[in-house]
Amino acid sequence: MLTHCQTEVPCPVAVAGAGVQAELSAGLCAPQATISPKFLYDPLGSRLFEAICELPEYYPTRTEAAIFARYGADIARAIGPGATLIDLGAGNCAKAASLFPLLHPDQYVAIDISRDFLHESLARLRQRFPHIEMTALGQDFSSRLDLPADISPARRLFFYPGSSIGNFTPDEARGFLRRVRAQCDPDGGVLIGIDLLKDEQTLADAYDDALGVTAAFNLNVLRHVNQLLGADFDVRGWRHQAFFNRDEGRIEMHLQAMRDMLVRWPGGSRSFARGDCIHTENSYKYRKSAAIGLLEQSGFQATNAWVDVDEWFAVIHARAIGP
Ligand code: AVI
Repeated sequence: MLTHCQTEVPCPVAVAGAGVQAELSAGLCAPQATISPKFLYDPLGSRLFEAICELPEYYPTRTEAAIFARYGADIARAIGPGATLIDLGAGNCAKAASLFPLLHPDQYVAIDISRDFLHESLARLRQRFPHIEMTALGQDFSSRLDLPADISPARRLFFYPGSSIGNFTPDEARGFLRRVRAQCDPDGGVLIGIDLLKDEQTLADAYDDALGVTAAFNLNVLRHVNQLLGADFDVRGWRHQAFFNRDEGRIEMHLQAMRDMLVRWPGGSRSFARGDCIHTENSYKYRKSAAIGLLEQSGFQATNAWVDVDEWFAVIHARAIGP
């Protein structure tokens, strides 16, 4: 391991804080190198993810949308009007906005790690729905959830669509849902989209599309790490890999080195042999009963689960229970 950048190698300027750099450096130096999936979402990554959602292979977005289109009125009845709608991972805010005419929330709080992207989205939304009080929070809510005092504690509905819960391990998912539960009064709840287990080819195709958009999304994380950490990843030296891990019930995304290489960043380096992988994302798929179990183990009780005809995806409403 090098402990410094060698002078003959130009060292890009790192832009992230010390905590983010320490996290990235630790992940890259781990026996199985990892980059947390949250780093997939720089401005370009967020746009690539939007493009993924348009792909024919990527069924979750359209399947979830079809559930909302078919059962929107039922969902609105289960929730009732006047909620404080808290959108976790709001992105372009489009999913929540499509529910406004049904849910009639009093307040909308959009939270996303990608702050710039969020502010642009919310500015557009404020013009369309001037009567809804709106707040944008640029926050990495995956590890802690801090809501400012001006967010009403009453009737909080945490909206977590898109099956993003699948990007946590089941243990992490329970920890996350418990933190959400801690932010709810007894009249609070969650409306969550969860991807269900299905045939492996459908799953594999969804994460390795013909156009290579998912590949670009995965590879873009190296550009982002170069920017945040001042690393010198050569994106052209890596290729996208995605496969279903049956034992774990999850899709795994990796980046595989296509040749031997040394990657450096200020304060560290790692050599990768051809074929070595960096693990960039897990996407867990659940049985419906296990998805409901996850909520129940985290202080919620499911009131309803809506699924599509193929049972590929579930939208679950759950109320806060217990103290
Ligand atoms: C955001 N998340 C739910 C997506 C998923 O399906 O796990 C991220 C993604 N990764 C590759 N394609 C989409």
